[in-house]
Amino acid sequence: MDLHTHDDACGCDAPGPVQLVPPPLSLYVHLPWCVRKCPYCDFNSHAGKGALPFDAYIDALIRDLDQDLPLVWGRVVNSVFFGGGTPSLFPPEAIDRFLQAASARLRFAPNLEVTLETNPGTAEHGRFDRYRAAGVNRISFGIQTFNDEALQRLGRIHDSREAERAVKLAQDAGYNNFNIDLMYALPQQTLAQAEHDLERAFALDPTHISHYQLTLEPNTVFFAKPPQGIPDEDSAWDIQEHCQALLAEHGYGQYEVSAYAREGWQCQHNLNYWRFGDYLGIGAGAHGKISSGAEQQVLRRWKHKHPQTFMDTAGTPAAIGGDDVVGAERLPFEYMLNLLRLHEGFPLADFEARTGLERSVLRPALDTAQARGWLICDGARATPTELGRRFTNDVVELFLR
Ligand SMILES: C[S@@+](CC[C@H](N)C(=O)[O-])C[C@H]1O[C@@H](n2cnc3c(N)ncnc32)[C@H](O)[C@@H]1O
Ligand code: SF4
Repeated sequence: MDLHTHDDACGCDAPGPVQLVPPPLSLYVHLPWCVRKCPYCDFNSHAGKGALPFDAYIDALIRDLDQDLPLVWGRVVNSVFFGGGTPSLFPPEAIDRFLQAASARLRFAPNLEVTLETNPGTAEHGRFDRYRAAGVNRISFGIQTFNDEALQRLGRIHDSREAERAVKLAQDAGYNNFNIDLMYALPQQTLAQAEHDLERAFALDPTHISHYQLTLEPNTVFFAKPPQGIPDEDSAWDIQEHCQALLAEHGYGQYEVSAYAREGWQCQHNLNYWRFGDYLGIGAGAHGKISSGAEQQVLRRWKHKHPQTFMDTAGTPAAIGGDDVVGAERLPFEYMLNLLRLHEGFPLADFEARTGLERSVLRPALDTAQARGWLICDGARATPTELGRRFTNDVVELFLR
């Protein structure tokens, strides 16, 4: 029996009623302070002045979590990510207290991935053992570059030796699963220097490398006063291509725009974001996305950005910066914005389960993308081509309605 009702260029029509099925769930925890604000950074991070209120902030996080719990009753949490800011400013005992409170309230998966972002300038002897005892099983180091002059120009609080020392301290504490963040297309950076950064990273044997192109973000010092010598678009592309090849040569497979991992060591937390999974966002300025099977809807919720306002209001409706149900007209775009970052593409059945929309709504845009050589759609799965990955923004725009 031919189930297709009309001509179907990409073979992606399918019959039957479609239901939104809540996807895997993660927990994001935002810790908003840093030693110093880096001039390129637009994250919700604030230079900490004096003694930071770690205990009061953890209390606020727990109240915040309690308020969000009804959104996720009974669901399993597969990953926790402490992001910032600089989470490694928080003492291990504070992280432990939060994780204990969270595990008393949520169902943690047995193979839970727990990541803590760490600025190498805050790494202290003896701390990693205690983070590990608290349940943190993955570290993400913000190293950026191993070039000391470049680190200074970026306003970083550490040099390259401190970065290497921080990684070794974590390895001594038993961490073999860790990520190194590097940025490229830095002011005055040559291709050879960018490649040298990767070689220094490989020598530390990380399971994962995030390789970001430096971007000038509005509301940053670099945006207001761009530093001299930022590589132009062609040079940045050249650096990216050579670095991609070098990463592949060393066994780091690219699975997302900026993410590379050894086989089997992809970041489960970030993968869940990019697969349009669900996540609770706890802490100042944190964003969450939660699907409800009962209500057949996707809710986005975010919290007040300013740390003090957040702490003063956590656990009350005043801490919620906003709630927004994503409308059917926007879901295909939001889904594609995430999924098209991934090399693996997506099964069309997964689009239906995560949005509650029929796959046929994608058809015109998928057909156009396929005709332009940006995507391959075999009827069950759509996968971006290399050309499509180069023009992700143009591909995603096709799904705007
Ligand atoms: C929240 S920070 C990571 C941890 C810690 N705060 C640190 O910087 O060491 C996440 C990462 O985003 C990257 N990043 C931040 N601002 C960026 C920008 N303007 N362009 C490209 N990458 C950026 C950096 O590699 C940074 O390590
Ligand atoms: S340490 Fe990290 S989060 Fe803090 S300002 Fe620098 S890049 Fe941003």
